[in-house]
Amino acid sequence: MPATEEQRTYYVTTPIYYVNDRPHLGHAYTTVAGDVLTRWHRQRGEKVHYLTGTDEHGQKILRTAEAHGVTPQEWCDRLVAEAWRPLWEHLRIANDDFIRTTEPRHTARAAEFVQGLYDRGEIYRGAYEGPYCVGCEEYKLPAELLPGATEEERLCPVHRRPVEWLAEENYFFRLSAYALRLLEHYAAHPEFIQPASARNEVLRFVEQGLQDLSISRSTFDWGVPLPWDDKHVLYVWVDALQNYLTAAGHGADPERFAELWPASVHLVGKDILRFHAVIWPAMLLAAGLPLPKRVVANGWLMVGGEKMSKSNLTGISPTDLTAHFGVDAYRYYFLRAIPYGTDGSFSWEDFTARYTSELANDFGNLASRLAAMVGRYFDGSLPAAVEPGPAEAAVAAALTGAVAEADRRIGEELDFAGGLGAVFDFVRVVNGYLSDQAPWQVAKDPSDAARGRLATILYTAAEGLRALAVLLNPVMPDTAAKLWESLGAAPLLGPLAGQTIATAADWGRLPAGATITKGEILFPRLEALEEKH
Ligand code: ME8
Ligand code: MG
Repeated sequence: MPATEEQRTYYVTTPIYYVNDRPHLGHAYTTVAGDVLTRWHRQRGEKVHYLTGTDEHGQKILRTAEAHGVTPQEWCDRLVAEAWRPLWEHLRIANDDFIRTTEPRHTARAAEFVQGLYDRGEIYRGAYEGPYCVGCEEYKLPAELLPGATEEERLCPVHRRPVEWLAEENYFFRLSAYALRLLEHYAAHPEFIQPASARNEVLRFVEQGLQDLSISRSTFDWGVPLPWDDKHVLYVWVDALQNYLTAAGHGADPERFAELWPASVHLVGKDILRFHAVIWPAMLLAAGLPLPKRVVANGWLMVGGEKMSKSNLTGISPTDLTAHFGVDAYRYYFLRAIPYGTDGSFSWEDFTARYTSELANDFGNLASRLAAMVGRYFDGSLPAAVEPGPAEAAVAAALTGAVAEADRRIGEELDFAGGLGAVFDFVRVVNGYLSDQAPWQVAKDPSDAARGRLATILYTAAEGLRALAVLLNPVMPDTAAKLWESLGAAPLLGPLAGQTIATAADWGRLPAGATITKGEILFPRLEALEEKH
């Protein structure tokens, strides 16, 4: 029985990454975005399931393992344990599951799935030859290749490395038969592929008609054997895409599957859009399964004008940046600085500028000034507001607007930069309010009226910070927790995780009498950068 909307879980996935090498900033970009989306929906009070994992079969992994003189399984185990899992823990990724395509829970289901397609006549035996990029693990269309160093040499447009000519007799999926049904689906569900640039690219591609897809390989054996012909292994992409189903319990746990499938959002880089927006839905249609609700493509982080990749790194790893800026600032920076869906480049200067102006000066200082003033003027006990007036009403109204806008942009549109922009506009509203009201001046006047005014001003700023802790918790969980602590909110309101996004806008929630303490500086001054350039 299909689960009702109430029972349904918001199911978010990242690509499963190739473990031919260690993760870099690009992988972390997609995974952090998924984590923020996950935490945002959890903070709404929804049930969320966040899946990430690793793609471990295929020629690229096999060749890497051979080059290092170990078996592919040993190589994968090592990279997962030493590089991939630790980075996600370090970046505070709150995934619920981590799937590896070499796990039996996956290989068994992937084999069953293709057997099902084979039984339905969706797979046939044939021959194919063409240019193949091992970096992409994909046959390329001659028209999309770039010229290389010699007359014959052609380069993959993603990896800018020579493609290989592959000629094979293998099995094919009748992808060509699905072009029309896919176009119908895109038309009926305009939200299926986002952003619009990605959607248009896919439409143009499918409108030209589709070729059948080679789904097996017989020249090496690092993969899932085809159940009906074990001289072949499943093409790594067909294997990999299954992860979203198998991790959701397809074929193994019907209740779990009904709750999780179809996925709410597949997050992918634009390099793997066709796999997710063309091949994957066609295979699901062929299998008679519902399609994911949305495929959202992120742009590329660029270095020197090219896509940052494992082979084209420039020596910067996520941990180099977190060592300097901290994990929370790292999580914030890429989502704030680059509109989701477009390409962007990273620079130490830009990160430093945003860290200093937005995080340390605008936000961090606001928290420490408030704590200092409540300490100095009210012995650290938050006073009640006395007769709030229009200036206070304006702050409360700005908060209501910011919460609605951030919720729509981050929670619905995956416009992280826009949503964070709305939250930080509110930070500036509270700062502007404090400079206008100048509580340090009001404090010099010993009259009762001035004392009441001072209480109102500090209460208003504290309420603003209370809301900011909730709104920033999905993005900067450690910082938000420190702020929650310094506002003395937990004993009165309960844990930060229990505050929904809707309550962020609920003006007046923080009770007077909260014990406000000067906690740790949220965003300390950065060390000098000279050595890192
Ligand atoms: O493609 N900028 O794995 P992969 C932004 N195993 N994002 C980037 C990026 C960059 N410079 N570089 C990588 C695979 N990414 C397959 C996926 S899914 C069933 C199988 C991110 O290790 C981006 O999300 O090459 C991209 O799609 C993904 O890493 C590719 O990782
Ligand atoms: Mg890649």
